[in-house]
Amino acid sequence: MKKQRHDALKPLSHHHHHALVQAMELKRAGTENTDKSLGESIRGLIDYWEKDAIPHFRDEEEVLLPLYEVYAEQIETELIKEMLYQHIQIRSLVYAIRKNREDPYEKMHRLGELLESNVRFEEREIFPLIEETVPDKYLHQVYGKFHRDSYSGF
Ligand SMILES: [Fe+2]
Ligand SMILES: [Fe+2]
Repeated sequence: MKKQRHDALKPLSHHHHHALVQAMELKRAGTENTDKSLGESIRGLIDYWEKDAIPHFRDEEEVLLPLYEVYAEQIETELIKEMLYQHIQIRSLVYAIRKNREDPYEKMHRLGELLESNVRFEEREIFPLIEETVPDKYLHQVYGKFHRDSYSGF
């Protein structure tokens, strides 16, 4: 049976839900499954990016991963590198979309895929690793250190 997400990490899972909604929007952009214009899709992306994605990446990079590193006896470097590399790929695609309007839909679809796989990877690989590595009482201490998501309120 699937283990329940630790309470301390629940805000991050709520953020992930928002990320999946945004990923779906991105994958639909420019297709018959949306009536949003290119401008609206890009504004939606930038809004999500600035209010929620940047602070969420910070929550993970500045709070969560250092906490893991403190308590891990053997650090799963490949998993951590993969996660950080995904963050960089996402950041650079957002940068590319904002910088020029060449093939915007192709980039947005790719970004949607990346965002979704980053969420799935963290939920399946990284969070369970952290739950099993960081002692419960220390994991509880991160609660309240994460940004509040504009979409879910968590
Ligand atoms: Fe992430
Ligand atoms: Fe995340």
